[in-house]
Parts: sequence; structure tokens; C-alpha cells
Amino acid sequence: MNDLLEGRRLLVIGGSSGIGEATARRAAQAGATVTIASRSRDKLEAALQRLPAGTAAAVLDVTDAEAVATFFVDQPHWDHVVLAGSSTQVGPVRTLPLAQARAGMQNKFWGAYHVGRSARIGAGGSLTLVSGVYAQRPNPAAVLQGAINAAVEGLMRGLALELAPEGVRVNAVSPSTTATPLWDRLGEAGRAARFAEMRERLPVGRIAEPDDIARAILFVATNPFATGSTVLVDGGDALA
Ligand SMILES: NC(=O)c1ccc[n+]([C@@H]2O[C@H](COP(=O)([O-])OP(=O)(O)OC[C@H]3O[C@@H](n4cnc5c(N)ncnc54)[C@H](OP(=O)(O)O)[C@@H]3O)[C@@H](O)[C@H]2O)c1
Repeated sequence: MNDLLEGRRLLVIGGSSGIGEATARRAAQAGATVTIASRSRDKLEAALQRLPAGTAAAVLDVTDAEAVATFFVDQPHWDHVVLAGSSTQVGPVRTLPLAQARAGMQNKFWGAYHVGRSARIGAGGSLTLVSGVYAQRPNPAAVLQGAINAAVEGLMRGLALELAPEGVRVNAVSPSTTATPLWDRLGEAGRAARFAEMRERLPVGRIAEPDDIARAILFVATNPFATGSTVLVDGGDALA
């Protein structure tokens, strides 16, 4: 258990599902006061039923720069902000419609930029972004995801310098295939095939559970010496 979270205010954007939800759960269990945020009120309400009592929720779309700015101005400073939310279309560069590719960048990169621009975090606090192993190990069927994740990591490193005078640390956690609803788009059979292929390839012999990634997120968020780091938690994916 992470005693550095006791009594801390933690915001998890993307906390209504997958990695974000696991982060919210683990933080709440460690005594943090947690707010989850995402676009869909229904998803947030459903997540609140699964999360510890006392977790709060807010509707927020990180692609809307003005809404992000307003959200943070209306709130007291946070101790830790985690951005684990995004949604991007996957496909080869040659065939993925340009509008969808641009929407992916808008969602994940510009969403992170908007949060970096407006988040009000107290001295000693942190901002943690979630990138992805394709930044290190490109996947020819998901080139865009690698480019977006590399951009997110570049943004993180620059923000770590920019926000240092305010006493705020900025890091990224980079997962490989993780068993979250993100993969539901493949259908049941497609998801099972993808997970089986990854289990076969990864040195650890399994794919990640959301809590594997949540542990890394809370580790960098609370480690007072961690800033500008990308923590790869990928089961050895980048090596395989
Ligand atoms: N799962 C993997 O295998 C994997 C691998 C590498 C990297 N990642 C990265 O890890 C992060 C979390 O993924 P996940 O697997 O946990 O996905 P997920 O289960 O699909 O959850 C995504 C979360 O993000 C929220 N969200 C999406 N767009 C948003 C927006 N514009 N503003 C605010 N919230 C938004 C969603 O809620 P709403 O729909 O309500 O907004 C949801 O809560 C993503 O950045 C993903 O790219 C995942």
C-alpha cells in the first residue's frame, strides 16, 4: 500500500474504465480522495458503482481546451493528476481516413497538451501521462499510435522542465497490451486472438492487467525523485 497517497487529492482523467479505473481504485484504497473524469456520464456512473465509496466524478472531454481550463479553475489545486484517458482509431497509414488520424492526435496528444496547459497542481505534486510501447517499438498496423505516444512522451519531458519551478513533477507510463475495454472494438474472437498472440510473444508469458499499470502510475506520481521519466511497464514487449 502507498502511504504517500493518504489524504491526497487525486484526479484520474479516463478513470471510468481500464487503466484509469484501476489507478483510481488503488489510490482510493491507499487513502487518497479520488475524482474520476471522462466524457460519458453513464460510464462515470457505472464506474462509481465499482469503485470505493467516496470517489467523485466529473464529466470532462480533454479535447475541449476551454472546458479543461474551466474545470481546473473551478477546483482547488490537485496533489496528483493522472491522464489515462484517450480514444484513437487504429489502422495502416495508407488506409486510415485522415480525419480519423487527426482526431486521434486531437484526442490523445492535444488532450494531454490541454491538461498540461491548465492543470493546477500544488507544489510537491505530479502530472502523469500514459503513452504506450509503440513509441519504442512501432507496430506497422498502428503507426499513428506510435507517433502519438512519442509525441506525448516529448510533451512530458518538456513539461517536466517547465513545471519544475512550481515544484510539480511530470512523468509518463508506457504500457503494452493491457486487458481493458479498449480492445472490445475487436469483438470477442478478435480480442482473444490478440491476447493469445501477445501471451505467446511477451517474455512474461501474459498480458498486463490494468492494475499492473496502475501500480506504475502511482509509483511515479508519488516518488519525489521521479520527473521526466517514461516508465515502460510492458512485460518485455520492447525486447521481444
Ligand atoms: N489497453 C492497452 O492495451 C493499452 C496499450 C498501450 C497504451 N494504452 C493507453 O492507455 C490509456 C488508457 O487506455 P485503456 O486501455 O485504459 O482504455 P479504455 O479502457 O478504453 O479507457 C479509456 C478512458 O478514457 C476516457 N476518455 C477517452 N477519451 C477521452 C477524452 N477525450 N476526454 C476524457 N476522457 C476520455 C474514456 O471514457 P469516456 O469514453 O467516457 O470519455 C475511458 O474512461 C490510453 O491512453 C491508451 O492509449 C493502452
